[in-house]
Amino acid sequence: MLQPLHQPLKSPEDLAKMKVAGRLASEVLDFIAPHVKPGVTTGALDKLCHDYMVNVQGTIPAPLNYAPPGHRPYPKSVCTSVNHQVCHGVPGDKVLKNGDIVNIDVTVIKEGWHGDTSRMFYVGEPSVQARRLCEVTYECMWKGIAMVRPGAALGDIGSAIQKHAEANGFSVVREFCGHGIGKRFHEEPQILHYGRPGQGLKLVTGMTFTVEPMINAGKRDIRQLADGWTIVTADHSLSAQWEHTVLVTDDAFEILTVSAGTPAPPAFVELRATVVS
Ligand code: MF3
Ligand code: CO
Ligand code: CO
Repeated sequence: MLQPLHQPLKSPEDLAKMKVAGRLASEVLDFIAPHVKPGVTTGALDKLCHDYMVNVQGTIPAPLNYAPPGHRPYPKSVCTSVNHQVCHGVPGDKVLKNGDIVNIDVTVIKEGWHGDTSRMFYVGEPSVQARRLCEVTYECMWKGIAMVRPGAALGDIGSAIQKHAEANGFSVVREFCGHGIGKRFHEEPQILHYGRPGQGLKLVTGMTFTVEPMINAGKRDIRQLADGWTIVTADHSLSAQWEHTVLVTDDAFEILTVSAGTPAPPAFVELRATVVS
């Protein structure tokens, strides 16, 4: 049975450009990593990333002035979500201190194509619980990515993530999800980070989307701050997130957001499937 296309088809040339955008997004994270230290502000990290994107890479920071329906324009160039902040943390005067965990989420546009990726960073030495949350969340992202192949269902991705999070006593945020990506920042389909095996849309070769689970140490409920963007856990428990942009290949998948500093996949991921560009 044919199913409707959920994304514009991409030519090999389009995909080559997506790989460049993906690598550049990941290289912003490589660049910023040594700056994530006690005493630095999230605003300073944003400025460093902004200048690197614009002046060194010649990329456009996709978040800057991004205004999806129901939102005021996003005022900064990256998202910095610290400790109990779940996602879309707006950089500012917040000073990072020893033991904090921070997600930095970078989306660049290069030649009209988007690359979207985020990692967790430890500020100095994290607590045992914070480290475990970050590690399990990384495994959750990879449990989901490892399900990606033509014919797999979106529910296979979501259920793999949810199962691993909940087996470790953590919870999955439901209100935000991964997304199709290409010439647009956020497009169909939505990639839920929870679900049931076999349910939902079937994947086809050539689709490009993000997998970006947000996992809370406590309950899954969230709140939005008065800045109109920053999302926090309702119970103030720690939250973590990792994100890659992936391509569905004939075999399985390819990670598009790869650079020299990309952390290795967990041991459970078959090397065969991790095509490094
Ligand atoms: N990069 C985020 C994502 O993964 C979106 C951030 S939108 C912003 O989808 F406006 F807050 F930057
Ligand atoms: Co994304
Ligand atoms: Co992102």
